[in-house]
Amino acid sequence: MKPRASAPKHGLAAGEAGRPERADWTVDQGWKRYTAEEHAVWKFLFERQSRLVPGRACREFEAGMRDLPIGADRIPDFRRLSDVLARRTGWQVVAVPGLVPDEVFFEHLANRRFPAGRFIRRADQLDYLEEPDVFHDVFGHVPMLMNPTLADFVQAYGEGGLRAQRLGVLPNLARVYWYTVEFGLVRQDAGLRIYGSGIISSYAESLFALDDPSPNRIRFDLARVMRTRYRIDDFQESYFVLDDLEDLLELASVDFAPLYESVRGLAEWEPGIVLPEDGVLSRGTGSHHAARR
Ligand SMILES: [Fe+2]
Repeated sequence: MKPRASAPKHGLAAGEAGRPERADWTVDQGWKRYTAEEHAVWKFLFERQSRLVPGRACREFEAGMRDLPIGADRIPDFRRLSDVLARRTGWQVVAVPGLVPDEVFFEHLANRRFPAGRFIRRADQLDYLEEPDVFHDVFGHVPMLMNPTLADFVQAYGEGGLRAQRLGVLPNLARVYWYTVEFGLVRQDAGLRIYGSGIISSYAESLFALDDPSPNRIRFDLARVMRTRYRIDDFQESYFVLDDLEDLLELASVDFAPLYESVRGLAEWEPGIVLPEDGVLSRGTGSHHAARR
């Protein structure tokens, strides 16, 4: 089993084979069809991850989780989640079979609909999945979407994604999403905290991102991140850290077009590189990835 708990590749083209009947790729969650075994997988993951949240997740994640109809005993019903979420930030959770094409993904986000995988990983795959499942999507993303700043940022990302696709610069924008919404860290009063869904839905990466000496922890810089490749098959080699979650609000209103121009044709940075101009909070040893090469 690969020690990888989340491969949140939303938006990667799923191919025509997986296309459901509706044009927006949504399906009914079919909540009544979940089996006792599937609810038990959720319960195991929920309880294991909930023990890691205090002192690791940012306070906005904890607040969102507290106010949502989510518990250990059963996989949440998306309609009940959406009732609460819509009242707070205008977002809804809609069910999809798995990965959806980029433009479908962006279109949902731009309209404040979060497409969540309706399936749950198998009991023999607790720490590895290739597509985002209901645990990653709901436990990882939905509590943060209760926060108005993150909610606005993700909508702006959806709108920006549609534009970036037309301009042919999607990889640059996708890195921003990856290093914030999926794998972001933030400084809070008591220390570094997780707000990235890919981290907080992963047992091993919740430990690795904060405690392990291997990864770099670098202050977030937009142009830097747009040029930085990322790992989809392992933990991140570098995490980018916001000074404040509210910084995302500013990021949501930035005009990316001149930035795309400024990074066009420039070298791409390897995931583990540290640059002289980086604001390094902790320089990693790189030992984790060196051992695997
Ligand atoms: Fe995700």
